[in-house]
Order: sequence, then structure tokens, then C-alpha cells
Amino acid sequence: MLKYTAISLERSKVDLLAVPVCQDQTIHDDPQVLKLIAAATALEEFSGEAKQEVMLYHPSEFKVQRCVCMGIGPREKITAEDLRGFAGRAVKAAMKAKRPNMVIAVPSAPSVGLDTKVMVQAIMEGALMANHVFDKYKKNAKEKPLKEIALRIEPKTSKSLGSLIQTTETVCNGTLLARQWVNTPSNDKIPTQLAEMFTMAARKSGLKVSTLSAARLKQQKFGALLAVAAGSSHAPCLVEMSYAPAKAKKTIVLVGKGVTFDTGGISLKPSSGMEAMKGDMSGAAAVAATLIAVSRLRPAHRIVGIMPLVENMPSGSATRPGDIVPSYNGKTVEIGNTDAEGRLILIDAMAYAVKKYKPDVMIDMATLTGACVVALGEKLAGVFSRDDTLTRAIVEAGQAVHERCWAMPLPEDYKEMLKSDYADISNMPSARWGGAITAALFLSEFVGDTRWAHIDIAGPAFAKKGNEYCGPGGSGFGVRLLCDLIDRLFKKESS
Ligand code: BES
Ligand code: MN
Ligand code: ZN
Repeated sequence: MLKYTAISLERSKVDLLAVPVCQDQTIHDDPQVLKLIAAATALEEFSGEAKQEVMLYHPSEFKVQRCVCMGIGPREKITAEDLRGFAGRAVKAAMKAKRPNMVIAVPSAPSVGLDTKVMVQAIMEGALMANHVFDKYKKNAKEKPLKEIALRIEPKTSKSLGSLIQTTETVCNGTLLARQWVNTPSNDKIPTQLAEMFTMAARKSGLKVSTLSAARLKQQKFGALLAVAAGSSHAPCLVEMSYAPAKAKKTIVLVGKGVTFDTGGISLKPSSGMEAMKGDMSGAAAVAATLIAVSRLRPAHRIVGIMPLVENMPSGSATRPGDIVPSYNGKTVEIGNTDAEGRLILIDAMAYAVKKYKPDVMIDMATLTGACVVALGEKLAGVFSRDDTLTRAIVEAGQAVHERCWAMPLPEDYKEMLKSDYADISNMPSARWGGAITAALFLSEFVGDTRWAHIDIAGPAFAKKGNEYCGPGGSGFGVRLLCDLIDRLFKKESS
């Protein structure tokens, strides 16, 4: 998909060349590219300010048909994310212009003020993630993804990058796969169908994969999970995937919330905006796609993915508010609100994972609470953990890939709000405020002393509008984060 090139722009034909242009300094050192930039900045409307764009058609002396110069602002403000945005806009422009032969002019990293690998990787990520359209349900698909994207870069530099193309493609393909699953409408991804999609992808990657059917879940007493599934005519299931290298010393378990549609159940949600609840399986999609990426990245640890899949519907067989159910680990849960279903499927999945895999680290990822979106907005995820080292690793991974995570507290005394008069715990906090925290505290009661972190992705998982490198709908948030995190864990620690 991606490739490096060092072609002469005066002698080789290029359909579309994209050039990032800095507002106040030269960031390229290639004389041909500099000539093109000079032609662009000679125009009144273009100075290289962020988001400015100008198209040069058939620039003289060049075999370039179109050269799009894109402003990325003043040099001291340029971040890796600006470069992802640039590359994303460039690829979208190429798709729109139906230009299959596209070249991106990579600037010189020292001039930009970034590490070479960081800079090139960001450009690759923006380009790869923008090169995706979800048009499966459109009769006349308008835009096609590009078959190839060439990065124009000095051979000396590209050689120093080793296998960066392969690893970046692997991880970004994971993001695109997660988006594909999230964008699929809920009528085509009932739990068993989604399980089948996960299974097929995992098999192709050589992962070990198995599914606990509804009958098995009943037999093994996944009481909280089954209470959520009770209202739906579509049976629940739980998918397990594992990547287990022979010499693995540590086990990381990833658990993803997989509610294929969340109506709220008997505690029905308001209808406005409910369609976005097809994305309530974004955690499961991110975990499954991460495992598929992991099968190619081949880290040293055993990585297990657990995806509990259910549909949350109201019906004559649905669980009612006030019902009390036994969870997998034996504790009873009073269901104060059937819309707090994510935590119910997660506690059973996590208690099961702890018992079966005895993980060194367990991370769950879930579109868990609207309260987390109120707290952090639509671009940041909340991280909850009692382990500061783990929290720090997650926050740092988030910074590196720009899937930002913000550390949130787990105050012991807030557990007060989860007391039930009749059962061991209630899934509905007694107070409205701090809902993301009480949800995380609820989960914490079911992980024993496992080193665990919860990542609430209710904000960033799904966006109505999309951005420079993401279409509307699922963002695939979490895949790049988890892949980066897996690389960081157990590096410096002796534990
Ligand atoms: N899936 C929702 C959370 C959500 C909200 C995700 C907005 C994405 C965007 C979750 O199941 C839910 O309904 N949570 C309730 C919990 C409450 C009833 C305690 C919420 O946040 O209101
Ligand atoms: Mn809900
Ligand atoms: Zn939900």
C-alpha cells in the first residue's frame, strides 16, 4: 500500500503531488519541491497558514499534473497530529480527484523539529487512515480508496526507517477494520453475526479463537451478561481470541464492551441520537482489531482478547429495573437501571478472564458512560486504575498516537453510591454526579487484585462528523493506543 519513492518530479509522471507547507520557515530541502512551494506562495491566497490549500495544475518544468500545497501553520507549532491531518487531507483530495498515482512530499524532520520516525509515521498514519470509505451500503460508491500511496523521501532516510511501513500499515489496518465493524448497522451485526466477523478475521490471522454460545454462558452462570441479553431475540455470546508466543512470560488480557445495539432496555433511551448506539460495541471492535494487528506485530507476551457480545433491548422477556441477578463471580447485582448494561457484561467477562487467564495486566475498553463524555468531551478517553505505572503507560501511549487518555480518580468513598438495599451491589449509582467514576468503581469490584485499568471511550469512539483522517461514524479509537501500549508494558518494570 505505502511505498517510498525518490523519483524526479521533472522527469517522472505524477498524477497528484501533495506538499505540506510551513507558514514561516522552509521545512523541505529538496530543490524541486522548493520550486513548487515558491510557485504556490507567489499566489496571494496562499502563505502556508494552517488549513490553507492551493492546487497548481501542470506546473511548468514538471511532469506533475496537479500539485496540492497544504498549509500546516508556523513551524514552532507543528505537531505530529498536524502531519496526520495534512496527509489525511491530501489522500482525501486524491480520492476526490480520482488520482490513483499520488505522491506525498515528505519534509525534512530536523527542519520540522520532530524525530524522523515520529514525523514519517504520522504522515503514514494520516494517509492510511484517510484512505478508507464505508460505502458497503451505497449502490453507487463515489470514492474509491487509493491502491498505492508513495512517500517521496531521501533513500538514505527511508533506509533508516527499517520496517516502519509494515508495522504502521498493520496497526492502521486494525483501526480501519474496527471502523468497518462499528459502522456496520446493528441489523447486520447481531451478536452471533459479529462473533462470526471477529472469528473469520482472527482465523485468517492465525489467532486461536473460540466462542462461548448462549447455552455455554448459561451453563457457566454469566448471570449479569445474560440479564442484559434477556430482552433481545438475538442470542448473546462471548468471543475469546489469543495470541500466545511460545516463550511468553506475561499475559495481557484485553476486554471490550460489545453491545451491538443499546436501546437502554426497559430504561429506554430517548429516541434522538439513539442510532449512534450501534457504536456501543466499539470497545469489542477495538480489542478484536488489536488482536489481529498483534498477530502480525508479534510482541513477546501472550495477549488475550475477550469480547462479550449482547444486544440491549426492551421486550416481554427483558430484565426489569429492580431485578436482582447473580453475576459470574457470585456477587448479586440489583439492576437499578437497565441502561447501565455495559458494566454488567464487563464484570462477567472480566471475572471469567481473571479466573481463566490469571492476567499480569487486564485492560477493559468500553463506551461505558455519557458522564465520561460530559467530563472529557468527544476527543479524550478516561482512564481509571489504581496502578499509577499502568495509568502512566496508557496516558503516554495515548499521547504518542494521539488517542488521548486522561487519568481519572477512583475514590473509595464514592463506592457508597453503589450500595443496594437488597443485593451485594447496585448497577445504578444513588447520585447522578460522577457517573464515569461510579461506573469504574463498579467494575473494580469484580477484578480481584488483578493489575487492571478501565478506559472509557464513550466520547472518542464515534463521531457524527469525522475529521481529516476519519469518516463519519466509528473512529477505530483504541487500536493504535493498545498496540502502542503493548509495546510499552513490562519494558522497564521488574514486575
Ligand atoms: N452506551 C451507553 C454510554 C454512552 C453514552 C456511550 C453516550 C456513548 C455515548 C451506556 O450503556 C449507558 O447508557 N450509560 C448510562 C449509565 C447510567 C444509566 C448509569 C449513561 O451514561 O447514561
Ligand atoms: Mn446503556
Ligand atoms: Zn451501552
